[in-house]
Amino acid sequence: MLQIDNLHQIFNEGEINQVYALRGINLRLQNEEFVTVIGSNGAGKSTLFNAIAGEFKPSHGRILLDDIDVTNWPEYKRASLVGRVFQNPFHGTAANMTIAENMSLAMLRTQKLGLRLGVNRVRRQKLADLLEPIGLGLEKRLDDKVALLSGGQRQAMTLLMASLSFPKLMLLDEHTAALDPATAVRILESTQTVIKEQRLATLMITHNMQQALTYGTRTLMLHKGELVLDLSQEERLGLTVQGLVDKFSEVRHEALMDDELLLSE
Ligand SMILES: Nc1ncnc2c1ncn2[C@@H]1O[C@H](COP(=O)(O)OP(=O)(O)OP(=O)(O)O)[C@@H](O)[C@H]1O
Ligand SMILES: [Mg+2]
Repeated sequence: MLQIDNLHQIFNEGEINQVYALRGINLRLQNEEFVTVIGSNGAGKSTLFNAIAGEFKPSHGRILLDDIDVTNWPEYKRASLVGRVFQNPFHGTAANMTIAENMSLAMLRTQKLGLRLGVNRVRRQKLADLLEPIGLGLEKRLDDKVALLSGGQRQAMTLLMASLSFPKLMLLDEHTAALDPATAVRILESTQTVIKEQRLATLMITHNMQQALTYGTRTLMLHKGELVLDLSQEERLGLTVQGLVDKFSEVRHEALMDDELLLSE
């Protein structure tokens, strides 16, 4: 469903502040595949997501979604195909609107459900049915303002809202990094529920190597703009964080030096 061919991204090309952020990325993702993405600060993870979402036209290479070349499509045209959730829980929901209003807006944005504005009884039931599986009790709080929710609850809602436009692909950029560890685990569990229920293909960036190995069915590692590891479910099975660090050293002939990656739990 996603195909990336020889993707290069150079920012500020030819200038003194030039950054070669992506150096020949090749990647194919199947429908409903859940892939975790790790890598040091500045490895190019967010740049890869931005390229897929269409924030810029890459310096070189192609991006295909469902066999359609979208490399030259503007961001808004890809928005219905690509859902995104970022690190900041304040990004993505309107604090002064209720849960029901936020979700109704997300539904309306897509127009695919053929719903009119206004939260009627049928709609309320629909919203409750969507919220219930994520297991945070939000279905009972439809009329609460989003400002009252915790960061974790907001992230779960943002994810659900992003999925309401029936995207093909969900991009999660460290969406649990700002949460305390217990909440992060809960949100990761509800992430799994949402992407399974909505049958999404997903790329999830995390700085936590254990999380990267625990969730999903495949793990990618980016390093200095290159894809240095691409581990299938079989290759990940039984792999420890140390095993992952060793694999990196094997392919790169250097030690992985990144405190944030190595020390995160
Ligand atoms: N719009 C931009 N203009 C110039 N340089 C950029 C831009 N976006 C990213 N970069 C640079 O590209 C490199 C890769 O950045 P990117 O944000 O993709 O890293 P990352 O892997 O997401 O890191 P982190 O783990 O810190 O989020 C960095 O050197 C960054 O400064
Ligand atoms: Mg990033």
